[in-house]
Amino acid sequence: MNVLVIGRGGREHAIVWKLAQSPIVEKVFCATGNAGMCPHAECIDIKAEDVDELLKFAKRNKVAFTVVGPEISLTEGIVDRFEENGLKIFGPKKNTAQLEGSKAYAKKIMGKYKIPTARFGTFEDQDAAFKYIEDVGAPLAIKTDGLSAGKGFIIAKDEITAKLAVNVMMQDKVFGDAGKSIVIEELLSGDEVTITFFTNGEKMWGLVSAQDYKRAYDMNRGPNTHGMGAISPAPIWNDKIEADVKKFVINPFLKALKKEKLDIKGVVYMTLILTDEGPKVVELNVRFGDPESQVVLPRLKNDLAEVIKKILDDDTDDLKIEYESKAICSQIVSGGYPLKYITGRLITGIEKIKQSKDLTLFHSGTVLQNERFYTNGGRVLCLTVKNDDVSKARKILYDNISKIFFREMHYRNDIGLDIAPVKGGEN
Ligand code: AMP
Ligand code: GLY
Repeated sequence: MNVLVIGRGGREHAIVWKLAQSPIVEKVFCATGNAGMCPHAECIDIKAEDVDELLKFAKRNKVAFTVVGPEISLTEGIVDRFEENGLKIFGPKKNTAQLEGSKAYAKKIMGKYKIPTARFGTFEDQDAAFKYIEDVGAPLAIKTDGLSAGKGFIIAKDEITAKLAVNVMMQDKVFGDAGKSIVIEELLSGDEVTITFFTNGEKMWGLVSAQDYKRAYDMNRGPNTHGMGAISPAPIWNDKIEADVKKFVINPFLKALKKEKLDIKGVVYMTLILTDEGPKVVELNVRFGDPESQVVLPRLKNDLAEVIKKILDDDTDDLKIEYESKAICSQIVSGGYPLKYITGRLITGIEKIKQSKDLTLFHSGTVLQNERFYTNGGRVLCLTVKNDDVSKARKILYDNISKIFFREMHYRNDIGLDIAPVKGGEN
């Protein structure tokens, strides 16, 4: 069968790479994809937002199902449009995507179904936000309500900083319309992990943990990024945590999906802080994480195409999802990311990476010109190593990263290092 993936970053490259290994998949298309995906997918020049053209393409090319990477396509309702046209698509419908598109909505649902999360208030009015800050006191996490690519988030250790953050979002509109409405949360302390699982809206399969490294520099310093690397499973993860997460987070979440008629055949990905009072949700997403998918999918033992097909076809009686080994990945980014950075730098050394099933180079933001790769974004490449031994994986990872070069390139040196656990509020 033919399948279509929507998106063009490292997450989509990992999805495409995994689908291309399936014996039931003849051809993988990716819209728009990126130049690095070429061995695994045929990239097509239709933008993710051009749903009419994507529909026509999927019909013309007998696409058995489509997988959606980016959150923006989901919140704009791509799944509804495909289904209305009789096409199979893996992801949440527009109403469900609001869980990710609006933090205020996610908070409302979490409150209603007693899914543990940080105490919070939502505000569209600056004075009310100031009053809340004075009432509850710092430290606080101030977040834009809408999507802002992981950037609309400020930690305020004191009240003045909290009020400044409110000003920056609501008055200066630094994050655009995403900051029209804001969420103010208590700052939680504890270890941070992310979880990913597959769901049909009633059941979940394949719960897997990871840890995302969000800060730009080593030892969790510098600005928050969309992710500088990841490790799976999260080093802190154990059976007790897993049991608590299932009981206190996932079960009430599945109940919420059912009761609120939130349709999804797709993937859920959450960030949790493991507090003294148990796991609490700080981020709720209805898609694969990036860069989490670059460590989770290489560990997936199942055929991804078969898993997706079974969930879409309601053929899940014998569905069992398993993961193997451990994986770490590091993003190689443009100097200055996530703030100001220069693109168009020539990348050398890619051909020196001897890729295998345990060593994979995913492209996040590259472009091919005259048969040479150039940088084309903040996050440029993502190198993943799978190995049962994390210290061996680290050695392989950094030996290989050193073969790659472009001007001002930057990456973190501490991915998978024990001395850099990730704490809520610090990540
Ligand atoms: P978000 O903007 O919600 O995606 O959060 C980005 C990062 O901020 C998370 O990965 C956490 O490290 C941190 N974070 C968000 N909310 C909280 C909170 N209430 N308490 C502590 N850390 C948080
Ligand atoms: N790892 C951040 C995200 O996918 O939102």
